[in-house]
Amino acid sequence: MKRKGIILAGGAGTRLYPLTDVACKQLLPVYDKPMIYYPLSTLMLGGIEDVLIISTPKDTPMIEQLLGDGSRLGMNIEYAVQPEPKGIAQAFLIGEKFIGDDGCTLILGDNIFHGKLDFFRKALSRPEGACIFGYPVRDPERFGVIQFDGDYKVVSLEEKPKEPKSNFAVPGLYVYDNNIVEYTKQVQPSPRGELEITDVNLEYFKKGELRCEPLGRGIAWLDSGTPRSLLEASNYIATVEHQQSYKVACIEEVAFNMDFIDQAGFEKVISDTRSPDYRDYLEMVLKERIEG
Ligand code: G1P
Repeated sequence: MKRKGIILAGGAGTRLYPLTDVACKQLLPVYDKPMIYYPLSTLMLGGIEDVLIISTPKDTPMIEQLLGDGSRLGMNIEYAVQPEPKGIAQAFLIGEKFIGDDGCTLILGDNIFHGKLDFFRKALSRPEGACIFGYPVRDPERFGVIQFDGDYKVVSLEEKPKEPKSNFAVPGLYVYDNNIVEYTKQVQPSPRGELEITDVNLEYFKKGELRCEPLGRGIAWLDSGTPRSLLEASNYIATVEHQQSYKVACIEEVAFNMDFIDQAGFEKVISDTRSPDYRDYLEMVLKERIEG
């Protein structure tokens, strides 16, 4: 079974107004790249070459202008529109044809992960069921909250509970088998009229097909939904990049390292890069690869 990926880049970004008055949140900068580069590179690092990006009617063309059809990265990137914000899980109905007979990973366009992504690759290697993750936070009531026992068996899962049963939030990265479309169709819209991702995960839970992997130290999961957290995410990336001299979420570099493109493809990317600084960086990546 092939694994495909969906990036949902919807939402009004109201907490970031007026930054989001014209450009959508997922196109705002997180230090030196548009926010959507980060979730895209997460999917790529999982080996996912087939990606569907879903956004609003207004924003989809802008995202398409930025990322194109993915061919320069050795990928297939498609686009679809979510006409109205009817919930995260609606992505699977919009993407039904794209998913076809394959498994599907969903990542939210404002979720930034940094660190060793072995947890994600492990989840992708399992052919059946669903896998979601648990990340310890100070304010779980803002998120989906997962409770699990000593064997990481899911005990409960609730969307933004007033009284959270654990401090583990569910990040916006969800790995599903091909049943995802069918299970989404079994879910009814919530009182706020949305198809909730938590309800779809509860379908897997009811059938005993939901796994949860806790994410420990060493993985950063960054929120970028408020002006302050956006700044903090930028500062975090800037600090890491400055110290290491490597970029985080440089999609061209990831495509090369994941062998989505070969050396000739990477050289073409370099020669098409207009910014001298960015080109210098890509050239350094190539040189390091050649010299081993
Ligand atoms: C959504 C999900 C929530 C999840 C969060 C992660 O919330 O509904 O379960 O924990 O994304 O970013 P939203 O950000 O749409 O409020």
